[in-house]
Amino acid sequence: MIRPVATISATLPFAFAVLGLAVSGLSAAADAPAKAPLPPPVIERVPAGGVATPITPAPVVDRVLRGQYLVNTGGCGDCHTPWKIGKNGPEPDASRLLSGHPQSLAMPPAPKLPAGPWTVVVSATNTAWSGPWGVSFTANLTPDVETGLGGWTARQFADTMRTGKHLGGGREVLPPMPIPAYKHFNDADLDAIFAYLRAIPAVKNRVPAPLPPAPAAASKK
Ligand code: HEC
Repeated sequence: MIRPVATISATLPFAFAVLGLAVSGLSAAADAPAKAPLPPPVIERVPAGGVATPITPAPVVDRVLRGQYLVNTGGCGDCHTPWKIGKNGPEPDASRLLSGHPQSLAMPPAPKLPAGPWTVVVSATNTAWSGPWGVSFTANLTPDVETGLGGWTARQFADTMRTGKHLGGGREVLPPMPIPAYKHFNDADLDAIFAYLRAIPAVKNRVPAPLPPAPAAASKK
């Protein structure tokens, strides 16, 4: 039977609220920390077309949505989406979602910092970073084959995130890429993140290679 979408979207949140109550009641009784499963994203499960979908959606949809959630909460866009000045100040440019340092923005040499506790300089786009490691540019994470992750396998992505080495065995992935935090993602998380990165629009944008730290003599000028 196909039920009207309105009924389903109205009853689902209620059902989850009840489920949530039941779960928290149970765990309180057992005196254990609440370990309720994450509520599934209800809205996305009822398509605008009006056809009722099963409450358990196809796993691939689930993975992409979970990946989007992890990318949003993991702050990948803070560094991998170039920032622009919007109505309310600087904000990530959604039209260049996760496409990395813009190839059109050639950075001049980073300003020399005086001796003292300031160590890092960042571009207005939040995509070029100069610090003790040299200059790094955030990577293009879109599925473009030539300039993004289009040619990567899920395995290579997971190995990069886990080891902090390019494709799991190449050069060190430089700061400020938060490998020390992200290496704790589990397999399912990394799989979901990669599935989401495969689903976003491909953007052709060749990110420059990183630059080594300036020689000590040059920084004395
Ligand atoms: C604080 C800034 C920052 C955040 C947040 C960040 N990255 Fe990065 N990321 C970088 C920088 C900078 C590089 C380039 C490093 C280099 O060239 O060595 C990079 C590189 C990468 C690479 C390419 C590595 C390679 O070997 O080519 C991948 C993949 C990546 N990031 C994925 C992610 C994902 C997924 C997230 C969110 C879960 C994320 N990054 C969040 C700064 C960041």
